[in-house]
Amino acid sequence: MLENKNMGTAVVTGASSGLGEIFADRLAKRGYNLKLVARRKDRLNALATKLQSKYGIKVTNLVADLGAAADLENVVNDLRADKSITLLINNAGTSTVSPIIKTSVDKQKAMVDVNITALMLLSDAVLPNFAEKNEGTLINIASVLGFHSLPISAVYSGTKGFVIQYTRGLQEEFKGTNIRVQLVSPATTATELWDVAGIPLSALNQATIMTVEDCVDAALSGLDRGELATYPSINDQTLIDTYEDARIRLFKGSQNGQVAERYLEN
Ligand SMILES: NC(=O)c1ccc[n+]([C@@H]2O[C@H](COP(=O)([O-])OP(=O)(O)OC[C@H]3O[C@@H](n4cnc5c(N)ncnc54)[C@H](OP(=O)(O)O)[C@@H]3O)[C@@H](O)[C@H]2O)c1
Repeated sequence: MLENKNMGTAVVTGASSGLGEIFADRLAKRGYNLKLVARRKDRLNALATKLQSKYGIKVTNLVADLGAAADLENVVNDLRADKSITLLINNAGTSTVSPIIKTSVDKQKAMVDVNITALMLLSDAVLPNFAEKNEGTLINIASVLGFHSLPISAVYSGTKGFVIQYTRGLQEEFKGTNIRVQLVSPATTATELWDVAGIPLSALNQATIMTVEDCVDAALSGLDRGELATYPSINDQTLIDTYEDARIRLFKGSQNGQVAERYLEN
């Protein structure tokens, strides 16, 4: 059993499986007490028991459907009142990958509710406390499908695009403070999400799939390195730098109040 280094409380949403479960393990190992959020109570209870005995930390479970307004409000109120929280990972997410006309409105809404609304309101619940203490860490899990769309990912990509721009905005807002805001954009990772999305992992190109442990350890390594944006599977740093540079130059190029010449009549 490791000594609890009193790191405060880390909240991990979507801790009942996949990336969230491993984030919970790694944060417990670093000495955080945990507050775990998901719908599947049995899984959260089993994880809490395991991590408490393995690392000697305290674990509280909040069983909640983050896509249901009343449950979300309860979690928001809990987080807002809990001044021990020093880190939040907005990891819970849901996905349906299918053409839009074959995706029910309920499934489309669920992606917006969990991937956007819950992430935004839970961030909003902890940030005032972080600001008051001038300390805290927010990690938002996006996806490489947040900067790219496939014919089967219009809504999912749209929700992750929100995560990317929202997180960038917060990074600008808290620049120069002790509040860390990290954006993590994984590519394909071997989790249950693919079953939820309607595509079995076995149907994917196996060479493109990362293990959950590798993805989480890379994300936390990125955090330790002080990265604003972490792409666990992108090896070529020049791709990231070129993309960031082009994005900023494209925005700057739009700020001139003049119609682009190609739209002017001869
Ligand atoms: N796996 C990938 O290839 C991949 C790639 C890029 C990004 N991501 C992102 O990584 C994050 C974690 O996903 P994962 O891959 O680890 O998938 P996962 O194994 O399916 O885990 C998703 C987690 O979110 C929770 N969740 C889903 N809907 C919820 C709801 N309505 N209320 C509360 N909790 C809810 C689930 O818990 P309950 O079902 O118990 O509620 C589960 O713990 C997501 O944001 C996902 O978009 C994944």
